Amino acid sequence: MNRMPIIIDNDTAQDDCVTILLGLTDPLADVRAITTVAGNVSFDRQVINAQMTLSVAGRLGEVPLHLGCRQPMLREWVSAEDVHGDGSGGLDIELDESAISDEHAVDALIRITAEQPGEVSIIAIGPLTNIATAIVKDRRFVKNVKSLYIMGGSNNGRGNITAAAEFNFYVDPHAAQIVMAAGFADVHIVTWDPLTLRDATYSREQYDRLTRIQTPIAQFFKRVCDATLGFNESVGIDGSTHPDSITLAALLHPELVLDSSQYRVDIEIQSELTMGYSAMAWEKFGVKPNAHVIEEMDGPGFYSILEQMLEIETTPTRPILGLNG
Ligand code: RIB
Ligand code: CA
Repeated sequence: MNRMPIIIDNDTAQDDCVTILLGLTDPLADVRAITTVAGNVSFDRQVINAQMTLSVAGRLGEVPLHLGCRQPMLREWVSAEDVHGDGSGGLDIELDESAISDEHAVDALIRITAEQPGEVSIIAIGPLTNIATAIVKDRRFVKNVKSLYIMGGSNNGRGNITAAAEFNFYVDPHAAQIVMAAGFADVHIVTWDPLTLRDATYSREQYDRLTRIQTPIAQFFKRVCDATLGFNESVGIDGSTHPDSITLAALLHPELVLDSSQYRVDIEIQSELTMGYSAMAWEKFGVKPNAHVIEEMDGPGFYSILEQMLEIETTPTRPILGLNG
């Protein structure tokens, strides 16, 4: 089986944690590094969340963890703590400083992709600050990346942090525009609307079936996802949303991608009203495409992958405080 070398660049909270678990447990994935970027919750909390996720999978200290940009390129950081709480349901862990690399995430992204040009793919599921900084720091980076899978934006649809913008593109719109204009050979985008809302949102009944599984990672999944589910239901989203993990699944399991089209994607960086909006122009408008925007995925098929993943028995590397059993 050919495993896919990947780097997961993320703003570790809720579904970012689920994505890391998928990367660490899926036999098709060869996770070369986890890189963190300012996004969902405080940066230091994201580091704790990342270490807990690696630990619950029994892989803390094995998979390199690189800390990245602690703030967006130009704008002030915007939190999503109202959505995710602390991103891990109040769990905690005694940090293992030795498990945090001294190499900055941007340098790791550049180095790892340069060591195997055209072979390593990046899953970018937070604001794109690290990716854009790597582009600016070393122009060869764009050519060295095999595929770039991004969770971000909406396809002529509604935002979630504002009516116009999805969170990842809103937090660092300048980074997102740098990435979309950089010329990556193979970009795939999973959107908030419609893709996540339609194909990666699971009802409370489906969620309860997953969280009744009595394994450490299933109980961890419940703790990191409970707060976001509660928030979703309070704003009319009827279920548990999994935009990040389905983005990784699109790379690992391309059979789940039922429809995808080429678009020219650009990010609004001028107007405060629509800051971070992703303008997605399709073929009709005669503009050169720069991304494959995934139009439809097999939601039930991905649910089965999540279910199988959560059944995996693991032995946490370090105790996770507050996680029973
Ligand atoms: O808009 C959804 C995205 O914002 C997800 O990546 C979630 O983790 C948050 O970062
Ligand atoms: Ca994320």
